[in-house]
Amino acid sequence: MDASNWSASAWQSESTFHQLSPYIGKTKSSMAAPLVAQYTQQGDTVFDPFSGCGTFAFEAWRAGRHVIANDLSPYASLVTRAKLFPYRTLKAAQRDLEAMTTLVVQQMQCGGHDLRKVPTWVREFFHSETLRETLCWVQVLRERRRWFLLACLMGILHHQRPGFLSFPSSHTVPYLRLKKFPRSKYPKLYQYRPVADRLRAKVERAFRRVPALDFELERKCLSRSAEKLAFANGVDAIVTSPPYMRQLDYGRDNRLRLWFLGCDDWHALDTMISPKEKSFLALMDQCFRRWRMDLKPKGHCVLVVGDACSREGYDNLPERVSHIATQGHGFTLVSSYTDQIPNKRRVRRGLVGNTSETILVLRNAAVSRKRHA
Ligand SMILES: C[S@@+](CC[C@H](N)C(=O)[O-])C[C@H]1O[C@@H](n2cnc3c(N)ncnc32)[C@H](O)[C@@H]1O
Repeated sequence: MDASNWSASAWQSESTFHQLSPYIGKTKSSMAAPLVAQYTQQGDTVFDPFSGCGTFAFEAWRAGRHVIANDLSPYASLVTRAKLFPYRTLKAAQRDLEAMTTLVVQQMQCGGHDLRKVPTWVREFFHSETLRETLCWVQVLRERRRWFLLACLMGILHHQRPGFLSFPSSHTVPYLRLKKFPRSKYPKLYQYRPVADRLRAKVERAFRRVPALDFELERKCLSRSAEKLAFANGVDAIVTSPPYMRQLDYGRDNRLRLWFLGCDDWHALDTMISPKEKSFLALMDQCFRRWRMDLKPKGHCVLVVGDACSREGYDNLPERVSHIATQGHGFTLVSSYTDQIPNKRRVRRGLVGNTSETILVLRNAAVSRKRHA
C-alpha cells in the first residue's frame, strides 16, 4: 500500500460519482481502490457492512467485483445506492431529469407544500420558494425511487456557492454562515434559487469522470444494523471502515439531508450509528462472530479503523479491534499499517480525537463455512 494514496488529494482524479454528495468520514477513493485490488479477486463478492457514501462499494464494482453494501443511515444508504445503480449515460440521466421536472412543475401548480409544517431550523436555511420547490423535488424523486437524482439533489442542498440551494452555509456539515456573508452585503445569496437548473448542472458534473462499469455484476444495497446481516451464500471478502467511534456524529453532521429524507430524529439515529466505546466494541464483537460464519475460509477482512483517545482507557483502538477478531473469533492478523491523518484532511480541525488511521488486514482462519454456520 503506497502511503501517498493516503495524503494526496484524489479530487481531480477520482470518478465524479464519488463527489455526488459529501460525507463526513468518507474513505479516500485512492486508498479504497488499492485495498480492493490487493485483497479481493475479480468476480468475488465483496461486502461493505458500513458503506457510508459507498467508496469501497463503488471501487469494488468498478474493479469487477460483485458488491453487497450496507449502512444504517438513510442518507449514507441513499448515496451508496446512487453510486451502485447510476444511469448508464449522461443522456439517460438528462432525459429522466426532464421527465421528473415535468412532474415537479405539475405538483407545484397544485399548491406544493405547506411550509408551516417545516421545522424552523430547516426553514432558516432556504428562501421560502426554494424550499417549497425542493420539497416537491424530494417527494417526486422518493416516490419514483430516483436514487441517483435524489443523491445529486442532496449534493447541492447546502453550501455558499451559487450552484447550491441554501443560504450561505458550509458544505459538509450544515451550519449557516450569515455573519460571514451578511444579507446587506451579499443580497444575491439570499434570493430565490430555482432547483431544476442547479440539478441539471449537478448531474452534468456527476458524469464528468465515469469509468467503464459492468452492469451485469450483482450489486445489493441494504440498510440494517451490520451485525444483523447474514448471507446464506457467503461472501469472499469484507472491506470496510467501521464508525469512527465517538469522533464523528454521522446523524448530527448530516441532519439537514436526513430531514429531507424523512429522518427528523438524528439524535435517535446517532445512538445507533455513532456508538461510544462500549457499544462500538460490542458491535465489532457481534460483527466478527457473524463475519466468521459468512466470510469464506481464508477470506480477507480489511478494516480501516480510526484511532481514538478514549475516556475509558482503550488507548489503541485498532489493537482492541484486532484483539477481538483474533482472540474472540479465530481470525488471524495478516498486517497492520498505521498512518497519521493530516490535519487538513480532518473534518473538524484541531480535534484531539482521531489522529491516525490503521488498516487492519485479517484473515478468516475457519476451515469451512458450514462448520461454523
Ligand atoms: C467511517 S464511516 C464509513 C465511511 C465509508 N467507507 C465512506 O467512504 O463513506 C462508518 C459508517 O458506519 C455507519 N454505521 C454506524 N453504525 C452502524 C451499524 N450498526 N450498522 C450499519 N452501519 C453503521 C455510519 O452510518 C457510517 O456511515
